[in-house]
Amino acid sequence: MRGREAAAQDLGLRLGDRRPTALIAPRRYGKTSLVRHTLHGLEQAGVATSVQVDLFGVDSFSDFAVRIDKALVAARGRLRRTIDSVAAGLAVRLGVVSIELRRPARDSPDPIASCHGLLEVLTAAAEREPLVLAIDEFSDVVRVDGLDAMLRTHLQHHYENMGLVFAGSKPSMMRELFSSRQRPFFSQADIVELGPLDQVAVTDIIHAGFSSTAKQAGPVAVRAYALGRGHPQRTMQLADAAWRRTPDGSEADEAIWAAALGSVQAALDNSFTAFYEELPATQGTVMRSVARTGSAFSASEARFHDLSNSSISAARNNLVRDGHLGSLQGNKVAITDPLFEDWLRRAFP
Ligand SMILES: Nc1ncnc2c1ncn2[C@@H]1O[C@H](COP(=O)(O)OP(=O)(O)OP(=O)(O)O)[C@@H](O)[C@H]1O
Ligand SMILES: [Mg+2]
Repeated sequence: MRGREAAAQDLGLRLGDRRPTALIAPRRYGKTSLVRHTLHGLEQAGVATSVQVDLFGVDSFSDFAVRIDKALVAARGRLRRTIDSVAAGLAVRLGVVSIELRRPARDSPDPIASCHGLLEVLTAAAEREPLVLAIDEFSDVVRVDGLDAMLRTHLQHHYENMGLVFAGSKPSMMRELFSSRQRPFFSQADIVELGPLDQVAVTDIIHAGFSSTAKQAGPVAVRAYALGRGHPQRTMQLADAAWRRTPDGSEADEAIWAAALGSVQAALDNSFTAFYEELPATQGTVMRSVARTGSAFSASEARFHDLSNSSISAARNNLVRDGHLGSLQGNKVAITDPLFEDWLRRAFP
């Protein structure tokens, strides 16, 4: 992971100080990498061990219980010992939740009771052992009615003895979860937004990456920043493709960049086509309009595509909600994935 030193340091301090943090960024911005890297640092420094739960696609309390169980049994060292002894004291059996919850109804435990038991194990362990709980893809909490309320109930009295980080990739949903009074996690965590990599970071990373392997980046850093707009994963993907095509001991040039870009585009075209086909029609049109004009509400595009302002507005809001568009200042929006934007421009001239 490159160019995220300041963000990692900030997150490490927050977790050490027990300040619950909501880490928000679009898809593929490096949230999971940043959290893992930071937790690893805290473990190495002996500050805290971590329990990492992933809520991606969670769809029931049973499903949630399995995620927590998996996270608890993944703990190692002293924390594992503490968790095992707390679980034994509470008569909670770890590592078998998935099997138990799939038994025939009469032999199967109540999933909600299982969740409570597992969360009690977690919070009781935190009283004995310095612990950081990282919940990834936290925005999926809304897929299970009442799950956020259950989590809040268990966690709220433990903010002092547990570091907490909630990471999520649907920015507007994440913001709502922590800043709407209607939501159980209202005001429960500081919101930290992870932005794109800046031009200095991208330039340094790419030039340093090439030169540390006896190659030279030539135009690659400038090109990758111009196209990738600091999107961490896309920038790395472009730089990596160019690096592979640059012979040992030599410098990349425009031809190498063009070949690298072509190969990345070719590798992604099918998935972008499929993604576009799955978007509701108006959302696809709005994406095209943004790719062309930088705005969802361009009058010329609305006329061209025969769209009303209200249908554009609904589509735009859904695209923002799902993280495909990011809202900028005022009415402006940006397409989150710069290579999808590139595809839109190529596919719809
Ligand atoms: N700063 C970075 N330096 C190098 N590679 C990075 C950086 N940030 C992200 N990546 C790469 O981008 C990819 C996505 O990173 P990661 O999974 O951490 O992002 P994420 O925000 O959690 O994504 P998702 O929304 O899919 O969960 C990984 O392959 C990772 O190695
Ligand atoms: Mg992730």
